[in-house]
Amino acid sequence: MTKLRAGLIGTGTIAHSAHLPAMRYLRHDIELVAVADIRAEAAEAAVHEYGAETWYSDYRELLERDDIDFVDICTPEFLHCEQVVAAAKAGKHILCEKPMAASVAEADEMIKAARDAGVMLMIGHSRRFTDRYRNTWAAIAEGQIGNVQLVRENERRPVAMYSALDLNTGYWTPDGERPWIADPEYTRGAALTNAVHEMDLARWFAGSDADSVQAESRIAGENVEVADFLSYTISFKNGAIGAAEIVNNLPRAYPYFHMLEIFGDKGYAKAQDPAQSPYEIWRESGMSFPANFDQLLHIDNAYIREIGWFVRAIQFDAPPPLDPWDARQALALSLAAVKSSESGRRVYLSEMEPDGGAA
Ligand SMILES: NC(=O)c1ccc[n+]([C@@H]2O[C@H](COP(=O)([O-])OP(=O)(O)OC[C@H]3O[C@@H](n4cnc5c(N)ncnc54)[C@H](O)[C@@H]3O)[C@@H](O)[C@H]2O)c1
Repeated sequence: MTKLRAGLIGTGTIAHSAHLPAMRYLRHDIELVAVADIRAEAAEAAVHEYGAETWYSDYRELLERDDIDFVDICTPEFLHCEQVVAAAKAGKHILCEKPMAASVAEADEMIKAARDAGVMLMIGHSRRFTDRYRNTWAAIAEGQIGNVQLVRENERRPVAMYSALDLNTGYWTPDGERPWIADPEYTRGAALTNAVHEMDLARWFAGSDADSVQAESRIAGENVEVADFLSYTISFKNGAIGAAEIVNNLPRAYPYFHMLEIFGDKGYAKAQDPAQSPYEIWRESGMSFPANFDQLLHIDNAYIREIGWFVRAIQFDAPPPLDPWDARQALALSLAAVKSSESGRRVYLSEMEPDGGAA
């Protein structure tokens, strides 16, 4: 099997905690050639720890190399469109972190750029690659749960989430300073930080596109200027309901809490972190506990599967394991939730189309 040569752009939190370790695990298929970051120390650390040949402070220099087959983009969403379009024009296959972009129009531009250049584009909705979610999807596909009527995902995180990097200083944000993830100049808050995962999963499990969203949001914590508390209800076109409640700014030692519940007309599936993380399925034949899988949130094997399957698709000239259209639809849902929470009214997905839904 041909080993693929990779470049990684944005050596911050998710790159160091998930993508670079996954690439090291996949070293028989991937050779990390170069990384790029505007912060020298983060890029140098990636070179030393993960064996890249070199690093660049300008990602465009990385794209100029003709010995790189694909790039893995791990920068914040406001940079994704510019970097994905540039990578496509440079003829590289592209794996890009979620959320896909800052707007639906940007997402469409990214899909078009990849199509025009004949390169693969995949957005890293990592939760699609976890054992529990894949098992849940298989249970639905096998008809164990029947017609899905409700998908609920609740997620509560402590304030530590906002101890991220500051693009202006380039350093880990000391207490009291505001990182990009909490700054409206760069992002839209919980809707894009994590609800975009929940939106994607709800749409996947419901097996339908959404018709509309009604959302409420609040700023719950200090030192945050984006909504860090979001609650919403989605009406799917097939009649299913999606619901979620996401809080990212609970007291510092608050334990991560994450729960999924799906019920249909024949059964249900539910899972919860933390504790023993039991996973159970009930259907007409009774209850079963198939497994105690890893946590729903951030787990290593999801990234190994995400990057490994992406690479296999390039090697076999097959479609990507996750179509960028799914990420585009999840982004449209997240931005509809932002619009609904700001306007106080139900927002229809047709309103989120770049042409205003005229088509
Ligand atoms: N899949 C998941 O579950 C998951 C989890 C965490 C983060 N993410 C996503 O990953 C992305 C990055 O998040 P993060 O937490 O790692 O952020 P981060 O701030 O920790 O890292 C971003 C990195 O990009 C670098 N950067 C900024 N501008 C750049 C530029 N012009 N060129 C090159 N590098 C540049 C920064 O210096 C920093 O090192 C976001 O889109 C985020 O939503 C996904």
